[in-house]
Amino acid sequence: MPQNYTITFADGRVTTAYAPRSWTMGDGASAEIGRILRSWGLEPGARVVLVTDRQISRIGLTAPAVDALDGEGFRVEIFSDIAGEPDLEIARRVVDFARNHKPAAVVGLGGGSALDTAKLAAGMLTHSGDVTDYLGTKQFIRPCAPLLLIPTTAGTGAEATRTVMLIVEGRKVFINSPFLVPGGAVLDPLLTRTLPPAVTAATGLDALSHAVESLLSTGSNPFTQHAAVMAVDIIAHWLPRAYEQPDDLEARRAMLFAAYLGGLSLNAGAILGHSIAYTIANRTRLPHGVTCAMALPYCIAYSLPDASDRLLPAVEAAGIGPEKGSTGLARWVSDLAAGLGLPVSLEAVGIQERDLEGMVAECLAAYPRPNNPRPMERERLLRLYRALWRGNLDDVLP
Ligand SMILES: [Fe+2]
Repeated sequence: MPQNYTITFADGRVTTAYAPRSWTMGDGASAEIGRILRSWGLEPGARVVLVTDRQISRIGLTAPAVDALDGEGFRVEIFSDIAGEPDLEIARRVVDFARNHKPAAVVGLGGGSALDTAKLAAGMLTHSGDVTDYLGTKQFIRPCAPLLLIPTTAGTGAEATRTVMLIVEGRKVFINSPFLVPGGAVLDPLLTRTLPPAVTAATGLDALSHAVESLLSTGSNPFTQHAAVMAVDIIAHWLPRAYEQPDDLEARRAMLFAAYLGGLSLNAGAILGHSIAYTIANRTRLPHGVTCAMALPYCIAYSLPDASDRLLPAVEAAGIGPEKGSTGLARWVSDLAAGLGLPVSLEAVGIQERDLEGMVAECLAAYPRPNNPRPMERERLLRLYRALWRGNLDDVLP
């Protein structure tokens, strides 16, 4: 941990945080899931629905989990059709699949998309109606089916959070509920060794975004701050190694842990960076982590005038020298993303300059962030989007 980092308790605000009931970590941890479900009281013969990515299934990464469930006598039904971020159609198919099989538990295995869909399936197993009933209109009112999540990317932190992201009518929408936090998270670094460098980079920057945005969030507390600073420390140290040497298991262990910490830090709430990222994704369908990486330096720059001291522990954790301060952190993120081959301007991903006003309007209307340290305001945001379109961070750094 950073040498000079101390948690202060100057702020006595009341905050609430959610976390999985258990997490299990280590090489080959996914082989434990049968025993974990037994420890929750599930009997042999019970049915378990496994929700996973098409790609994960194709390369055989489901085998340890399926063997572990078989080994404890569970009957496994596999839905392996998740490809890309879930839209309503795939969400409804998974929910129908789960309701038809009436499982005693749901296991999600894959990237954020598979984990989110598994969360939704577990929630809908104990609630009636259609998925659209729960898009910010109606809350889940009782615990979801027993749910175990196994990430195969190190980024989204979905295994630690209460959020499900869906694409509805071409736009990202979220469902939040304390009941969507999984009962268990299983972190098995062996499952992440085959991640291609581009996915390692994008998902790693997603995890970094969770950490940095949660530090900036006015909803942060000593718990989320500590998780976030640890995540920044680990990512700064290990992400380049995981990118350059994909089968370096130590780097994979570190990144998987950092992503989980990033997910826990999200109890403070993501801020402007994720809102900007959604507006980019709605127009480009770029992976979530890529859009977060593009947005994060600009989110830092935007928020700094009202929050520079919030980032000092992250400046130290990233090892970039205290003299560079919080603006140095924005530059460091931008350089890190560029060095990992990620795009750094809206123009480079095919967005037209004439689209920017619409993006600002959508950012404000669809993804407001009352927890952003600096209020989201149209003119300032337009300046941000113009700078991001050109990829010129200096235009908005204070
Ligand atoms: Fe994210």
